[in-house]
Order: sequence, then C-alpha cells, then structure tokens
Amino acid sequence: MPAPSADPDPRLALAELLGQLARAGASPLARPASAGGDGGAATAAGTAAATGDAAPADDAAAALAAVAAGVAACRRCPLGALRTHAVPGEGPATARLMVVGEGPGAVEDREGRPFVGPAGQLLDRILERGLGLSRREVFVANVLKCRPPGNRDPEPEERDACAPWLEEQIRLVRPELLLALGRHAAQTLLGSTAPLGALRGRVLERPGGGPPVVATYHPAYLLRNPAAKAACWADLQAVLRHLGLRPPVERTGNRSGPTR
Ligand code: URA
Repeated sequence: MPAPSADPDPRLALAELLGQLARAGASPLARPASAGGDGGAATAAGTAAATGDAAPADDAAAALAAVAAGVAACRRCPLGALRTHAVPGEGPATARLMVVGEGPGAVEDREGRPFVGPAGQLLDRILERGLGLSRREVFVANVLKCRPPGNRDPEPEERDACAPWLEEQIRLVRPELLLALGRHAAQTLLGSTAPLGALRGRVLERPGGGPPVVATYHPAYLLRNPAAKAACWADLQAVLRHLGLRPPVERTGNRSGPTR
C-alpha cells in the first residue's frame, strides 16, 4: 500500500488514507469476498463500524462511507471549490443494480443526495414501474460527484479526476449490473465515444471487466422528450432479463407503464 499522502488538509489526508486502506483490503473497512446479507445505506455505515458490528456487508458499507468522506473532501478538480455539497451517491452495499447518472444538478448540490430533483422523481417511477424495484434497493451514483456550473456537460478532465470514486463504489458494491443513464454515463462506463443510440438497450461488457452495463436515456432527457419513454421501457427489458426479474406488470397487474 502506498504511504499516506502528506496533504496539509487533515480531512483530505484522512479520507485518502481510508481510501487506500479500503482499496488494499487491509482494514476492517474492506469487504471480504463472502459478503452477503441485506447491507445498509452508505450513510449509516459509520454507525456499524463504530459499534464493531462487523458483518461482511457492514464492512462494505463502512468502506462506502469512507469513499463518501473522501468525496466530501475531494479537490481533485476545480468543481470541488464550486459545489455546495458533494454528492457521493447512496444505497445498499449489497445492491444488485447500480444506477449511474451524469452529475448532480441544483437540487442535488443543495441536498448532497443524488437524483432528488425532478429527474430523480422520474427515476423513482422508472425503477418502480419499469423494474418493480424501490429506490432503496438500488445504489444510485453519478459519474461526477460535484455539480458542474449551470449543469453544463462534464469536461474530460473532470470525468477523469472523478472516475476513481465511482470505480471504487462499483468495486465495493459489486452489483450484477450497471444502469447508465444518458450518454455521458454510458460512454464513461463503457470507455466509448459511440452515441447513446448505438449503446442503449442491450447488455454490454466493460473493457476492463466487472459488472456489465445497460444504457438508456437520462430521465432529464425523458422529461424534455416524453416520446422517448417507450424506448426507455424497451431498454429496461434488458435489465429485467439480466437480473432475472419478472416484469412488474406481471407481478402487480400495473399497466400504467414505467414513466408516466
Ligand atoms: N442528474 C444526474 O445525472 N444526476 C443527479 O444526481 C441528478 C440529476
């Protein structure tokens, strides 16, 4: 393991050290290969670590909390100085599905939580009506952890600086599938420059291995272009198949579609 950085900001130095320990698997924060159980939200992980209640899933949750602490102190790119709150992401350490968006918007920046604005409300409906999943069951993250001013597109340098945080979350949660929302998330996760239309709706392997990706439209795009909701619904069928889930319409008789 590399030596801890000599960062003059003690919070940054601690966050870097925690991240290094978690990555090296050399701390009580590291998740053993046999991790199982229901897990807990990353925000609750500190409590489990503090009480010494070290079930394996709690170890992963604690490591995710260390990642969140690292994100909160991160200054790897200029966005760190512009944010109100960093938005690391949240969800169970044992989630089978990880949803990856582009980056926080204004509401997320204010609250420090992902997808809590209008696009987030649509995401909740997509998850519930399209996949039969409650948001509490999935891990929700973004490519960028800090809001780009005016919600502009991420710069390549910002994406590259932020990527290790998302990769660490993927490594710790080990979801069975990543659902990429929009072009930026899809291209980042797949290391591709192809347009979203060429990437969406099927299970694609990532170049470096790990959980595969299904890409679909970003909910913010769907809010502006409701006609694309039908294509999103079609994309979700690949998610259902990959996770072996029955369509919620079969389970509940709900025929209102995923996104209305
Ligand atoms: N859009 C995103 O991509 N992520 C969020 O968290 C909110 C809006």
